[in-house]
Amino acid sequence: MLFTIQVNNRKIKAEKGETILSALNRNGIRIPTLCRMADFSPTGACRICVVEVEGRDRLVTACSQPVEEWMKIRTHSPRVITARKTIVEMLLSNHPDDCLYCDKNLNCELQRLAEELNIRERRIRAKKIKPRLDQSSPAIVRELSKCILCGRCIRVCEELISANSIDFIGKGSKTHVGPAMDRDFNFSSCIHCGQCVMVCPTGALHEKHNLVEVQDYLHHNDIAKVIQYSPLVTIGIAEEMGIKYNKDFDRTLNSILRRIGFNKIFNSGVGTDICITEIAGQLLERIKNETEDPLYISACPSWVKYAEQFMPDIIPQLSTVKSPQQLTGGLIKTLIADSSGIMPEKIFSVSVTPCMAMKFEARRDGMMRKGISDVDSVMTVRELARLIRLYGIDISNIEPEPADEPMEGSSSAAGLTEISGGITEAVLRLVYFYEYKNDADKQLFKRLRAGGAFRETSLMIANRKIAVAVVDGLTGLEKLRAAFNAGRKYNLIEVMTCPGGCINGAGMPFAMHEINIKSRRKIIYQADETDPINLPCKSPVNINMYDKYLKENEVLSDKKVFYTHYIKRNVLL
Ligand code: SF4
Ligand code: SF4
Ligand code: FES
Repeated sequence: MLFTIQVNNRKIKAEKGETILSALNRNGIRIPTLCRMADFSPTGACRICVVEVEGRDRLVTACSQPVEEWMKIRTHSPRVITARKTIVEMLLSNHPDDCLYCDKNLNCELQRLAEELNIRERRIRAKKIKPRLDQSSPAIVRELSKCILCGRCIRVCEELISANSIDFIGKGSKTHVGPAMDRDFNFSSCIHCGQCVMVCPTGALHEKHNLVEVQDYLHHNDIAKVIQYSPLVTIGIAEEMGIKYNKDFDRTLNSILRRIGFNKIFNSGVGTDICITEIAGQLLERIKNETEDPLYISACPSWVKYAEQFMPDIIPQLSTVKSPQQLTGGLIKTLIADSSGIMPEKIFSVSVTPCMAMKFEARRDGMMRKGISDVDSVMTVRELARLIRLYGIDISNIEPEPADEPMEGSSSAAGLTEISGGITEAVLRLVYFYEYKNDADKQLFKRLRAGGAFRETSLMIANRKIAVAVVDGLTGLEKLRAAFNAGRKYNLIEVMTCPGGCINGAGMPFAMHEINIKSRRKIIYQADETDPINLPCKSPVNINMYDKYLKENEVLSDKKVFYTHYIKRNVLL
């Protein structure tokens, strides 16, 4: 039901049941928020969103207060502005003054609020929070002195990711955020998804950088610098650089990376095509053997760690095929080393990815051969953008170039795997093509492309029913359990930790995150519509891989480079 309220002496329409904030935003009136997150219930913790409501003694928090008929609201009165300003001044009173060196400089919400509220002097001084730097995680850094206790990270970890790895610890002025028993991150159940980093308004949580290490290696003349980037990375770099993405930009990134000093450049889509092919092989084998248990796709490293910690019973059902990053890395240290006549230990292999957990994955046991890692260093899209800026490359004025042979291209199905449900669709499409020698109608995968934390469908191929399920964000695991309890059976199950898939990965740009997720999805689906090489079995690189290199290259012939193993992990809580 719609009714009228008065805001700043102007009548606007509000809807019964919505909050004051929602009514204001719908009518183009913006007020600041800090602890609030879209799609989460409000906590009212920070009070930055206060407004004045006629007849109420106290200011009310717009993010949690339901709107009522004929309310008279003032959003920017002197009283409101003073209250907001004081809140931010209090937050700044014990904050370290190191904005210039902070990871979130120019992306910090606290900094932006101070600027918007015209805070130009330090009026309130408090004892600085004791610095505590936790660098124990391979993916995430915690700087406790920058935490403003908004609680966003805790809620995301619990409600969106279901890992429950962090919480408020201590009382009063000693309150802080951390893992169980106040241990460091590496002792916790954190699965390195990085979604807490994406919502932290300050630099209290940020990614662990590998940029300096990469810069350092770029000057080692006796080392071959090889880089791979996933299909989504070019879209992310275009966003970071503020340019409109087009297909040519994929090749422009190759030129940029060469100018920076990388000797060989590959798209991780090559590894994705192998990943799809191998999983399709495992699936067909299980169907042939009438294996009852489902095969779980293991391309998401956060999901794999979650399963190892909290669902160890399914470890034997986790596909042993490595992730695209690790497959490409494995090929760089074997096939590329061999064909270029370079010792694998003389290759520095860098991966650029939209996923923060891949920093952890690269260090996993089983991701190296004879003591040599598949991937030596992992950078997020944000880190690569910094590197490009650092090298002063004018990306608007650069000729596109191909990637290096013999891994210069991949199928559009490889791009699909960056979206939740995409790898399942790619595997099914491939299995269908094997059987019928033509493309499956995309309508068959409509249910996999729909939204929601849990999706399922089935396909008849060669008189066999293949049932699949997609868990889009770990909250969907509850629905998977319910489906099992109801007696449903699946042949293949995909689990992605970040809702929406890698397009919502924590290695992607911060700015305009929500809008960009939709546009990333659209670009990938459009590319898949128009690309004639829409399956791994049509990609010349993938065909060569199986028909030539696997046969000719001794190290690759047993395919051990493509496979890994998993372990049960004991975590504290
Ligand atoms: S990285 Fe993910 S699992 Fe770890 S604390 Fe942050 S949200 Fe939780
Ligand atoms: S670490 Fe960041 S998101 Fe978490 S409570 Fe502190 S400021 Fe908020
Ligand atoms: S944004 Fe409303 S109380 Fe924090």
